[in-house]
Amino acid sequence: MIANKKCVLVLTVLLNIATASAFVEELDDRFKNTRRSDEIWLIEFYAPWCTFCKQLDPVWYEIGAELKSMGSPVNVGKVDADIHTSFAKEFRVTDYPAIKMWKDDLKYNYKGPRTKESIMDFVDRVSGPVVRALTSQQLFQNVMSRHDVLFVYVGGSSDLKENYFSVAKELIVHTYFFSATRHVLPKAVTLEEYPAVVVFKEGKYFLYNEQQDGNLSSWINRERFLSYINFDSYTLYAMGDTGKVVVLAVLDERKPSKNSVRYKTLVQRAAFEYKDFYSREFQFGHMDGNRYINGIIMDELVTPAIIALNMSNDGYFLPPNKVETMEQLGKFLDGVSKGRIKLQGGNGYLQRIERMVFNAKATVTTIFTEAPLLGALLFLIFGFVGGTFCYVLYKSCDVVKSWIRNEKETEVLQVPVRDKKTDLRKKNTEDKKAD
Ligand SMILES: *[C@@H]1O[C@H](CO)[C@@H](O)[C@H](O)[C@H]1NC(C)=O
Ligand SMILES: *[C@@H]1O[C@H](CO)[C@@H](O)[C@H](O)[C@H]1NC(C)=O
Repeated sequence: MIANKKCVLVLTVLLNIATASAFVEELDDRFKNTRRSDEIWLIEFYAPWCTFCKQLDPVWYEIGAELKSMGSPVNVGKVDADIHTSFAKEFRVTDYPAIKMWKDDLKYNYKGPRTKESIMDFVDRVSGPVVRALTSQQLFQNVMSRHDVLFVYVGGSSDLKENYFSVAKELIVHTYFFSATRHVLPKAVTLEEYPAVVVFKEGKYFLYNEQQDGNLSSWINRERFLSYINFDSYTLYAMGDTGKVVVLAVLDERKPSKNSVRYKTLVQRAAFEYKDFYSREFQFGHMDGNRYINGIIMDELVTPAIIALNMSNDGYFLPPNKVETMEQLGKFLDGVSKGRIKLQGGNGYLQRIERMVFNAKATVTTIFTEAPLLGALLFLIFGFVGGTFCYVLYKSCDVVKSWIRNEKETEVLQVPVRDKKTDLRKKNTEDKKAD
């Protein structure tokens, strides 16, 4: 009886593996010429040596299976980018795993967390209609309740509409786009002019104004975020595309203090009360823990702190003086904006090498403390591979960035080191006291 059960279990597992693989096609260089133009493909570019790719495998097969069972028009594939280099080159693959959607003649890059939920959301957004029509008040309310930030074109045919559609086609990777007639909008929304592009967020709405806001695509790129964000490494990394400077309260949320509450409140006030004044140049938010930031500034940031980051060049600004009032924060932001406060760090040649050494040091320290023998072995191997590695790293800033991002995933590995160090330090001081 038990043997039977085991047998069934093994069979089910085997069957699962077999069918799951059937939902993900292994593609090669030839595919880029043989794909039918009406097919939509979700493609993972992987390399055999890449551990993050291996971690993605089960998620990828689940996605393939689920899309098939839903009857989705989206096909799922994977490509060994080490072998099929011209395919990878055409999709501008710079780091692994790279997740891309190929629809019509456009290639969309996925940058978010590598979870099933998040990737499926991307698939749903990008594979569907570029602009979705909200045809009833009920539908409008429904969509409104599900999206934090909602872009809606209101009105009939116009140049603005054409512009909105072409911008949507490009920015659909980041956010959904909707259209509606004025009768569908809630009564409380009174637009003076039609056609209009409106963004609904944080219980308010804002109108696009070409004279004040510049072109539509840069306005949407600015407005597609909440005014105040609880950042993680992915959302912070994504800010590189917006050209905005990110102003962060960096805190340890497990240990709230008077200052951490004060910093958070100050940054929130700048985001909401001074939105008109600052939102063009700055994005506001907070981040729990300083780990990711340490990788950028290559030092230990003492928390709580206020820091401004330029994610498009990995540069940062620290307030030269105390920031405890709104006025002092305003002075800091003004200094950053007018170039009076010096940019530190950055992604110049030297900084990239320095950052590489900083991150490598952190990793090596971990390995040696955790398993000295393995450490010694790896040290030899790394020494050998090192030359090639350095070359690739300094050549491509994207690699460095993604490396920093991936660092977050090795967080668990690294935390004990710091604990041990502090323990050691504590022990030393205790010893001294004993003396
Ligand atoms: C919109 O403006 C941005 C910068 O202000 C510029 O980089 C971009 O090319 C413009 N796009 C169009 C379609 O004009
Ligand atoms: C941020 O970096 C980009 C790219 O290097 C640069 O063009 C922009 O001026 C920087 N912004 C600030 C405020 O330093």
